[in-house]
Amino acid sequence: MSVLLTGGTGFVGSHTAVELINAGYDVVIADNLSNSSADVVDRIGRITGVVPPLYVIDVADKTALNKLFDERSIDAVIHFAGYKAVGESVARPLMYYRNNLDTALSLLETMEEHGTRIFVFSSSATVYGDPETVPIDESSPAGSCSNPYGRTKYFVEKILSDAAAADPDLSVVLLRYFNPIGAHESGLIGELPSGIPNNLMACITQAAAGILEQLSIYGADYPTPDGTGVRDYIHVSDLAAGHVAALRYAQDHKGCEAVNLGAGRGFSVLEVVRAFEETTGVHVPRRFAPRRAGDIAMCYAGTEKALKVLGWRAEKSLEDMCRDAWRWQRNCGPGTDP
Ligand code: WQD
Repeated sequence: MSVLLTGGTGFVGSHTAVELINAGYDVVIADNLSNSSADVVDRIGRITGVVPPLYVIDVADKTALNKLFDERSIDAVIHFAGYKAVGESVARPLMYYRNNLDTALSLLETMEEHGTRIFVFSSSATVYGDPETVPIDESSPAGSCSNPYGRTKYFVEKILSDAAAADPDLSVVLLRYFNPIGAHESGLIGELPSGIPNNLMACITQAAAGILEQLSIYGADYPTPDGTGVRDYIHVSDLAAGHVAALRYAQDHKGCEAVNLGAGRGFSVLEVVRAFEETTGVHVPRRFAPRRAGDIAMCYAGTEKALKVLGWRAEKSLEDMCRDAWRWQRNCGPGTDP
């Protein structure tokens, strides 16, 4: 079975490529390399023994997409390609709506023209906004997003559910990620933020490596056990395995299903920092800073549906995530010369 991964050289996409190849799928990658690099496919090859073909295209470009679908028999698409920086989306909303909606629409139209009927979408827990209660399950209200990035994810979810309602042959799975961190155990692929990172673990590893002067802990006055933000961190390799499970489900089912991919428990910023230091033995220089605009206090996943529908749950510990993130940073991460 041949699977097209749009954005497949990115953080989650590359890890999913590894798990799919290991599970026996043929993987094709389309990526414009705006937030990643082409050598990721060689690293996927070093891990799996298979270098997936890479099409360097704009996924919104239907001419380029049709050429790819003409050359490759694509049975399913996993759509990762899209802009994903929350803060940037507030500053540049039109760029986010144009890119994130156009890529999805161009893909769906091309798939329809070529008879490809399976679509797995890289969505986000951001669609839930600031939850009334935790854990958040899939029946929790969605759509009250706090930023344009989250709204693009929500709008694409609605496009997909409408498309599935109109086409009984279309199978769609909406995967709502919580907080993916860590890296493949080989240390060959991982998170490669361009410029100053936004996400917590990238900031921790860069502060530990001396690339950042220190980690800024945004807010210590939240209504949480230690005052710092609580999130559901999930190992990126666990997340990738969730995509394989979703693909297997989509092969046997029609319609549109939303599924949370999280570990089902929350850790605070301070708990993550302490786990990192205990696991790696490396000090993380840090300071307390004011809250970051748009942040919520607490968020973690209800995981029952993922287990019931996909037969999947996260397996790796916070210590695994810290150890693997640090190995990646030391081996090949930002600031190194791999
Ligand atoms: C986690 C916690 C911060 C950095 C975002 C997107 C989500 C997904 C994951 C794309 C919060 C705190 C962080 C730092 C800190 N992205 N923090 N200092 O904001 O939960 O989710 O990234 O798919 O869609 O919304 O993740 O890692 O940025 O923050 O104190 O330097 O760490 O305040 O409590 P977030 P994050």
